[in-house]
Amino acid sequence: MRALIRTFQRRVVRWYARHQRRLPWRRTHDPYKILVSEIMLQQTQVDRVIPKYREFLKRYPTVEDLAKARPTEVRKLWYPLGYNIRPLRLRRIAKQVVEQHGGSIPGSYDGLLAMDGIGRYTAGAVLSFAFKQDAPILDTNVARLLSRYFGIRASLARGRTRRRLWDLAAAVIPTGHGYTINQAMMDFGALVCTAHNPKCPTCVLRRSCRSYPYAAAASRARGTHLQGRPRRR
Ligand code: ADE
Repeated sequence: MRALIRTFQRRVVRWYARHQRRLPWRRTHDPYKILVSEIMLQQTQVDRVIPKYREFLKRYPTVEDLAKARPTEVRKLWYPLGYNIRPLRLRRIAKQVVEQHGGSIPGSYDGLLAMDGIGRYTAGAVLSFAFKQDAPILDTNVARLLSRYFGIRASLARGRTRRRLWDLAAAVIPTGHGYTINQAMMDFGALVCTAHNPKCPTCVLRRSCRSYPYAAAASRARGTHLQGRPRRR
């Protein structure tokens, strides 16, 4: 297992160095900006979030600005992203940060999880992306990547599967590199280990991936050979 984890870490981090997406929230460690991006990215695609993230931060550059804003106005600015409870939650968090934490977003699980609307994922994202802590994250992209690579069967009871995946999300973090591996896994899940038509033929993890043999067999059965072009008859 340790070897499998080491190979995963090395290959994913190396892949990320070459293929990472340039995203505006990766140019900052400001916990407020990271929090805005993560709440926006819940349920919404990266491409749609980018312009709104910029517009939102121009209008509310600090947590104090957001805390002071009128909820209807915040909601209106957010509107095209849908799921309209999120802007209200975010504003409520901003208010809590100002009133209870002197305007500084807490850098601990306890402090973050005490806020309405911050769960384990968002807390992990803020801790690793803003505070550079080795906190695990598990969103749908990361869960898919880990469950395929480590061969976690979906038939396990849901609660147990979830716990195992969280354990793995923590186990794959190389000490001191939570930021990098977490961002890397997100991009890997979004660009390579995709939900539909994953890019197995060119995947840097395929030699150690526990699901690759099944993907390759399924592909052979369909008559398309994973290692290259479809075979001629
Ligand atoms: N989805 C959620 N958080 C993300 C991030 N930091 N980068 C890319 N996609 C994400």
